[in-house]
Amino acid sequence: MGTRIKLLVGTMTGTAELVAQEVQQTLEAAGHDAEVLMMDTVGIDVFSRGGVFIVCTSTHGYGDIPDNAFEFFENLEQRRPPLNNVTYGVIALGDGTYGDNFCKAGDRFDALLTELGARRAGEPLRHDANSGDVPEEAAIQWVTAWADEHLAS
Ligand SMILES: Cc1cc2nc3c(=O)[nH]c(=O)nc-3n(C[C@H](O)[C@H](O)[C@H](O)COP(=O)(O)O)c2cc1C
Repeated sequence: MGTRIKLLVGTMTGTAELVAQEVQQTLEAAGHDAEVLMMDTVGIDVFSRGGVFIVCTSTHGYGDIPDNAFEFFENLEQRRPPLNNVTYGVIALGDGTYGDNFCKAGDRFDALLTELGARRAGEPLRHDANSGDVPEEAAIQWVTAWADEHLAS
């Protein structure tokens, strides 16, 4: 029996959503049950029963959380629910030309979830749009290894 994984998406121009859909298909092909959720369609109670999550978010402005994920992030930051039964991975999309703000939204989610007691599985994927690598391909490669290592098959 596979694992149930919720993919939480933050995006401005759709790339992170596309990436999450490819990741969902990869996880399902490996026998897991994955669901893509845009962060403006769920409340932070999505974490209330714990489980396995992947935060898949781009960064906009100068190190900012995408608009559709902003309220979700802010609610977590303010209400600070204990997330001790949450395991998560991070797929951060960004652009290396933003220097210190490279993948900052992914980093901010990562830091906040850890602060709230969640356990990160593996290193985040940090995709650089300036590298020429196709984000969906990088994410499929990353999640294949991630699932092998961290999920019960
Ligand atoms: C106006 C604008 C601002 C951006 N700011 C950042 C940034 O501060 N840091 C970063 O790493 N990437 C930044 N990016 C790059 C995006 O995060 C990257 O292109 C990502 O793949 C877009 O994904 P999305 O379509 O899901 O929003 C910015 C892109 C745009 C267009």
